[in-house]
Amino acid sequence: MNKTVLTAIAVIVMMLGATYLAVGMAGGVGGDGGLVNKLAVLGAAALVIITVVVVARYVRQMQNDTVSGRLVEETWDGIGEYKNELPFGWAVIFLGTIAWAIWYFLAGYPLNSYSQIGEYNEESKVYDGKFIEKYKNADEKTLVEMGEASFTVNCSPCHGLQADGMGGKAADLHERLAEKSVKYVLLNGSNNNMLGTGMMMPDRNGLVNMSTSAPITDAEIDAVSKYVAGHMTGSVGADVFVGACASCHGPDGKGMEMVAPNITEMSPSMVDMVLKSGKKGAMGSMPAFKNFNEVQYKALDAYVASLSKK
Ligand code: HEC
Ligand code: HEC
Repeated sequence: MNKTVLTAIAVIVMMLGATYLAVGMAGGVGGDGGLVNKLAVLGAAALVIITVVVVARYVRQMQNDTVSGRLVEETWDGIGEYKNELPFGWAVIFLGTIAWAIWYFLAGYPLNSYSQIGEYNEESKVYDGKFIEKYKNADEKTLVEMGEASFTVNCSPCHGLQADGMGGKAADLHERLAEKSVKYVLLNGSNNNMLGTGMMMPDRNGLVNMSTSAPITDAEIDAVSKYVAGHMTGSVGADVFVGACASCHGPDGKGMEMVAPNITEMSPSMVDMVLKSGKKGAMGSMPAFKNFNEVQYKALDAYVASLSKK
């Protein structure tokens, strides 16, 4: 008997002894659920014996093995390499893993079956449903309060807690349109899906003052921008508005369904379109918010519209 076998036997005896002691301390083999405990001990003993025997075999193999096989032709700084075929079983397992990964992705866990994310989504859907049911017919006051809370979380980083736009970082929501915003739209046009129909506001090349039957001029753009931003008051620019804008935006600027949006005040429907489509303009880009539920949209629409009424 050589040293390896002796060591292996010693290790087995030691580990079995330790197992016996540990089981003894935990209530013994004959305690409650005796059969289960006995099986567990047998299992543990088997594991110990198998592990030690296998390790001992490999240790012996390492001690006794001599090199064999064919070397590949190249050497790397004098270090050679054996030419070994990929074992057939490995190749099968390798290809099998790829097939399994494809199955797993398409039919197994991620797309089809249980997942924590899926469960979370299902649950939030249920709670969303309850929330919508409860507040579907909420009154104006409740909606505005709810909207304010939602605004603080989602919108204040850009619009500021007071919704004043933080010095031009975003739109001041107490005002429908700043002068520079109107001017920017007249020069560049606008394509923000504000009506939900994809209708665009023409840019300066598409604007004609019908009173003068001439393309709109720089001076007229300045004047009408002031007029619109100044709540459609004052005499400067009023005539331009009648000639170049009223046909779409209406004589009072309150807009026409499917034709042009209200440009005098913040209406809930206009806010709704901005939330769902986002908005690009003189101040920058407002991202679209696509994941609110219908009550959350209604609440934000009501809150923002209420700001400009104050
Ligand atoms: C052919 C119809 C048409 C005419 C004429 C027109 N508009 Fe518009 N306007 C629109 C449409 C449609 C939109 C919405 C575009 C969008 O979805 O971004 C719009 C948007 C706007 C906006 C942007 C509103 C916002 O919240 O961003 C302003 C400001 C505006 N118009 C001002 C004017 C003024 C001032 C005139 C006259 C000089 C004028 N428009 C002439 C159709 C028109
Ligand atoms: C990433 C910054 C950002 C966030 C977040 C943001 N906005 Fe905006 N918002 C803007 C910018 C910038 C504009 C101005 C776009 C322009 O130049 O016309 C704007 C414009 C608007 C307008 C149009 C005002 C007008 O008269 O043209 C409304 C309404 C609005 N935001 C509401 C909201 C609400 C409600 C939220 C929260 C759900 C929100 N915004 C979140 C940046 C933001």
